[in-house]
Amino acid sequence: MEIIWGKSVIALFNQDGTIFAMDGMCSHQGGPIAQGTVENNCVTCPWHGWQYELDTGIQTINRQPLQECFDVREVDGWIEIFIGEQNDS
Ligand code: FES
Repeated sequence: MEIIWGKSVIALFNQDGTIFAMDGMCSHQGGPIAQGTVENNCVTCPWHGWQYELDTGIQTINRQPLQECFDVREVDGWIEIFIGEQNDS
């Protein structure tokens, strides 16, 4: 699932009942991460196959945290995502 919040695109994933949120635009060339496949706690970008760990945003080949991740919690059936402050400039 993908949501838009201000200028941000956020990808949401449900991995075995745990919700993860990360920047919805791939750090490689902006591919739609939410449309990627999820397996073994990683999402694979549909454009060129870069893979990121859902909980850290670490890119699995170079082991760098290239994809921003956000804290998530579920409260009374609602998903809350902590994305910090948005800069309008
Ligand atoms: S845009 Fe995601 S791997 Fe290239």
